[in-house]
Amino acid sequence: MSEQAVLAINQAVQGMYEAFPYPNYSLFIPLRWQEAYSSGSLFAQRLVQQKMGQTAVSPGIRRVLVAGCGDVQAAIIGKWEPRAHRLVGVDLSRPSLRKARLRSWLMLRPVDFRQVNLEKTAVDLGTPFLHIDAYGMLHHLANPSQGLSNLGRALAPGGTMRIMVYNSRARKWLFELSRVFALLGLSAYQRTDLQEAVQLLKLFQKHLPALQERLEGMQAVIREPARLVDAFFHEREARLGLDFWLRAVEDAGLVPLGLMDRYAELDDLANPLLDMPAQDALQARIDDLRFENNLEFYLYKKSGPTGEALISPAPLSLRRSGPPLAWQRYAETKSLGRLQLWNLWQAFLTRNFQGHSSFLDRWARHVEPLALQRLSRLGALFPDQFQSRELQKLLHAPMQKAMEAPAFPEARLLRDIPELQRRLEHILVARKLPMARLPLISERLRRAQCL
Ligand SMILES: C[S@@+](CC[C@H](N)C(=O)[O-])C[C@H]1O[C@@H](n2cnc3c(N)ncnc32)[C@H](O)[C@@H]1O
Repeated sequence: MSEQAVLAINQAVQGMYEAFPYPNYSLFIPLRWQEAYSSGSLFAQRLVQQKMGQTAVSPGIRRVLVAGCGDVQAAIIGKWEPRAHRLVGVDLSRPSLRKARLRSWLMLRPVDFRQVNLEKTAVDLGTPFLHIDAYGMLHHLANPSQGLSNLGRALAPGGTMRIMVYNSRARKWLFELSRVFALLGLSAYQRTDLQEAVQLLKLFQKHLPALQERLEGMQAVIREPARLVDAFFHEREARLGLDFWLRAVEDAGLVPLGLMDRYAELDDLANPLLDMPAQDALQARIDDLRFENNLEFYLYKKSGPTGEALISPAPLSLRRSGPPLAWQRYAETKSLGRLQLWNLWQAFLTRNFQGHSSFLDRWARHVEPLALQRLSRLGALFPDQFQSRELQKLLHAPMQKAMEAPAFPEARLLRDIPELQRRLEHILVARKLPMARLPLISERLRRAQCL
């Protein structure tokens, strides 16, 4: 791709995020910091420590980069970084950076915010970083592997990275619906068009059984224009497969450490956070939609064993806040007692900030093995917190023999849904668009339902 084409994409993406800063949370909304327990440098460094016996970053490397920080991510990660760590937040969007800066002032957590295009080949972010967070950003670049390489270069040896990139296979239906909106001439930049899109999504939910559950799960996205535009009107969403991303990671000189299985879709594999799944095993599960989560990888830049991660007391505000709700919402963890969770949370914080917690073997005697396994897959509990070899082995082991591929209702054809067909015809007429688009729209709607 020519440099001009890259720049044109960057400008379109910048324009979009300037019109719709993401995720556009109010400055005064109370954030549940503890839900972001797996986002900071210490979590990633402790993952390295678990896998390699020690962390390997040189002492004195204390900078953390939030790449494509949007308006809230740097503040969230700032809560998890020791005060001695210097945070840098970069983004293309000025309004996002302005809001992010205000938020960091309100929190009394200094962050060095900069407007930077991370895709520029000559991008210079200063001295190397201990950790980089690039959550939901790389797939919006014109050349994602170039962007990842830039980040890889900015990382110190022994440094860690968390990236979240889209699972394009699982988002096929979203892509097809976004094509429907484009064929109808709807624009992200017209308020009435966004309202039209919301009405159409409601009609799709009502009439297309294959999409009902998915659209129901997206109510928060549909309600908030910034998130609606991000999902259905994006200026650039590179549709790339697992093989592309694993190659890009390798080309950037990085090694995958593990994968966050947020939706408990990989229970028939060894703990994916501790033992990175084999490519073909993960690909097979992506192909038949057993795995629909985005790809949340923890990465590591190789180095010799040189150092120790910073040891710092956990902030009292986190200690008092109580465990993440995310730990409690799984079938296996629902019945855990408040005290059990509280004790686990305190041990988690101690290990995260100080490197080691006291052993949890006695605590584990009162917890079901499946709950221990689930907690470990979420990064709430690590094998090095147990003395018992049996318990350590349990945390690595698969939780189930097999997982079934999901089945979905049949696709419905537009011609069999008069209410929806009339609505779409009406939009085409009102916008003076050719009726010949209707069969194309109908085909896109059919494909959206063929999950
Ligand atoms: C989906 S948002 C994610 C924001 C944040 N990471 C989060 O999870 O809340 C993607 C962000 O990446 C930024 N971005 C996209 N392309 C970029 C580029 N080339 N350089 C820097 N930032 C970029 C956008 O401006 C936007 O704020």
